[in-house]
Amino acid sequence: MYHKTSVFYGNLPVLTVAAPELMKRILVKDFDAFTDRFRPPMKHPILRHNLGEANQRDWKRLRAVVSTTFTSAKMRRMYPLIYQCVDELMVTLGTGTGMSADVDLRPVFGNLAMDVLATCAFSIKCGAQAARDVDSEFVAMAKRAFNPDVMRESVLQTALNWVGVGRRLDASAHEFFFGLIRGLIADRRRNTSRKYNDFLQILMDAVHDTDEDMDPNESYLGSGGPSVQTFSKHITDDELVANGWLWFASGTETITIALSFAVYELALNPDAQRKLYAEIAAALDTDGRVDYDSVARLPYLEAVFAETLRLHAPLHRIARYANRDYALGDDGTGIVVKSGQKVEVPAYAIHHMEEHFENPDEFNPDRFLPANRTNIAPYTYVPFGVGPRYCVAMNFATLEVKLTLATLVSRYEFVRSPNTDVPPLLRDMIEIHSPQRMVLSVIKRQ
Ligand code: HEM
Repeated sequence: MYHKTSVFYGNLPVLTVAAPELMKRILVKDFDAFTDRFRPPMKHPILRHNLGEANQRDWKRLRAVVSTTFTSAKMRRMYPLIYQCVDELMVTLGTGTGMSADVDLRPVFGNLAMDVLATCAFSIKCGAQAARDVDSEFVAMAKRAFNPDVMRESVLQTALNWVGVGRRLDASAHEFFFGLIRGLIADRRRNTSRKYNDFLQILMDAVHDTDEDMDPNESYLGSGGPSVQTFSKHITDDELVANGWLWFASGTETITIALSFAVYELALNPDAQRKLYAEIAAALDTDGRVDYDSVARLPYLEAVFAETLRLHAPLHRIARYANRDYALGDDGTGIVVKSGQKVEVPAYAIHHMEEHFENPDEFNPDRFLPANRTNIAPYTYVPFGVGPRYCVAMNFATLEVKLTLATLVSRYEFVRSPNTDVPPLLRDMIEIHSPQRMVLSVIKRQ
């Protein structure tokens, strides 16, 4: 359940921990000894300020500010914005498929995810879902900067930086985004009369907020350390830029993966798809739409979403670095994690362990129905991470995937076709579980 040195990164031993009680210690109870997730050998002058890379005191301050953008009250306000993009998806899909067609849904979901982020983060209609001939610099640059293949190159980039010969592989695409976000900030400061309801504005205003709906998890930051509320809520312009960039870096591929595997599993499990359709059809309003409360409330929709992330957790591993020498466990594991050493929790592997889930490779949403969910042991289901550093955008991601899935299933049926890869072919990526393509037959419901 734990191994002293199962993996080396370069010459650094990495401790892999999969025992729930030890995960709890590292990720929650003694979080103050393991606050950092990422320690690149060289730091980018702007990107070093993003929440995912920030360490210790900077992370605590930034987390307090960034988490104000993802509270449930803010999500309710984001709902119509996400819906606009899902409506556009329905138009694109309707135009492409007629009554039935084989569609590679991976790029379709990638474009949707980009559209949702541009809309919700910056109030930009970027044209990601529009016809192919739309000439959008935003989309072209986003595809260069955040395309998973380019992100994979960033691993190579890190290695090159390490030996001192690195140059940013696609610096111009990143610079485009930095310039765009700086321009939006300057524009909004000059012209205060127009009101925006997007993430950028929430972040810019967060400094003046009253914490009325602070994420309850934020009050817990490990023993000893200062609580998040004791930090002054300030954010610099570089931090605004770095975190605007981070939404795209974290929010396009993860959503694409979750949606791709959800429709894949539904296509391969028609009984589950029928059950989901029946639940959604009964919840549609007179305009054939699902409202915010239904998306949050429908139990089978939640179960399909959760089971998809159990089988296909987009991020394989949760990483932490020790801030100090740390004796692991009270019961004599004999392991001392040295200051600076990396510890990894193999989320994907834990989700597939027979001792935690019966028939672990089977898609069975019933495990996550309210009556059964209590049978899932703590720390054995962690697709969004766990503890104070869990995915800050979990509410947003959940809303986006569930709303999209509900709308899709209400209008289309997904069926395995001779062109479907079973099992799915995966991209050649180190940390991310992502399909190369997701071809399914998409049939319009009568
Ligand atoms: C289904 C979709 C998603 C999954 C499964 C997911 C999963 C994760 C995981 C496992 C982590 C690491 C947690 C840890 O270390 O304990 C994480 C962190 C993070 N995620 Fe997500 N994520 C998703 C969507 C998103 C989206 C849409 C965004 C942004 C719009 C986002 C932004 C972030 C950020 C900023 C962090 C770093 C948080 C911090 O360091 O404090 N994620 N996510």
